[in-house]
Amino acid sequence: MTTADTKQSSALRVEIQQILSAQQQPTITILSSLLAVQDSIHYLPEEAIKETARFTGETTNEVWSVASFYTNFRFTPPGEKTLDVCWGPSCHLLGAQSILESVHSALEVTEESESPDGKVTLKYNTCLGACAQGPCIAIDHRVFGKQTPQSATKIALDLRGLKS
Ligand code: FES
Repeated sequence: MTTADTKQSSALRVEIQQILSAQQQPTITILSSLLAVQDSIHYLPEEAIKETARFTGETTNEVWSVASFYTNFRFTPPGEKTLDVCWGPSCHLLGAQSILESVHSALEVTEESESPDGKVTLKYNTCLGACAQGPCIAIDHRVFGKQTPQSATKIALDLRGLKS
């Protein structure tokens, strides 16, 4: 670990300690603490596991077992932008599969994950609430309907700052 990494890690620890201490609910648990950290910094770094253990008086193994049980926790930083692709029934009938394939290719991923440059997190969605406009995608929760493989590719590449 470099000196810069160490500084970054200790700044992160301080931030996490502040998040943990700011919990207002009467009962504070490992789960509430992990949720508070993820709500605030959007993932659970190693520092979150250690600081939660210290804060709750539990072992890191106990904290890790709670964190790993819930699939909504993530352990790597999310991308700068989130791109949702809807594969709900309406969008599926209107061509979501080809939209998904185009986005996979443009983001260089094969499943829900981050593009290799860390710029975009791909998520699958079961309905973005605009079925009549399908197939739909959303950028940071803003929905764009009537997608084609070409338009979806362009959007995904634009998010990465790449040319289509
Ligand atoms: S099924 Fe895609 S927006 Fe509803």
